[in-house]
Amino acid sequence: MSGPLIVLVGPMGVGKSTVGELLADRLGTGYRDTDADVVATAGKPISEIFYDEGEEHFRALERQAVRAAVAEHGGVLSLGGGAVLDEATRALLADHAVVYLSMDVDEAVKRVGLNTARPLLAVNPRRKWRELMEARRHLYTEVARAVVATDERTPEEVAQAVLDAL
Ligand code: S3P
Repeated sequence: MSGPLIVLVGPMGVGKSTVGELLADRLGTGYRDTDADVVATAGKPISEIFYDEGEEHFRALERQAVRAAVAEHGGVLSLGGGAVLDEATRALLADHAVVYLSMDVDEAVKRVGLNTARPLLAVNPRRKWRELMEARRHLYTEVARAVVATDERTPEEVAQAVLDAL
């Protein structure tokens, strides 16, 4: 089947973009990120899409971006952390080499903490993180062919583990 060589899913801040770019370099292929595609389509940052039109509208734009990227892009693809919440988006990932980059809650708070550019974390980040992980972990696992833990690994080590896992 054609489509992306590798699709990275996992929580925000886990390193999907950094690891995705490293993998694309290693494989000599392109890198694409559905968050960037949504921003380009909407003509404004994700935080503004959330505040102006709401999460549901963002998820619809994200679904379109995933559909287009899966159809057109043959390299490494990263999805936004919440893309797996949408059932139709999950269905688009079937049969692709999806890798779930995981981290535990303490690591997430340490890495992302109070980053208000990420609208989902604006209030009580530790509790929010726990809720996000609990709500999403099984969805990441459902779509993924492999899980790679990122805690205490450098991006290079994570990239190598992704290649080893596939
Ligand atoms: C989100 C994660 C973000 C972005 C949006 C919503 C989420 O992507 O899509 O802010 O619901 O977890 P990253 O995982 O690339 O930060």
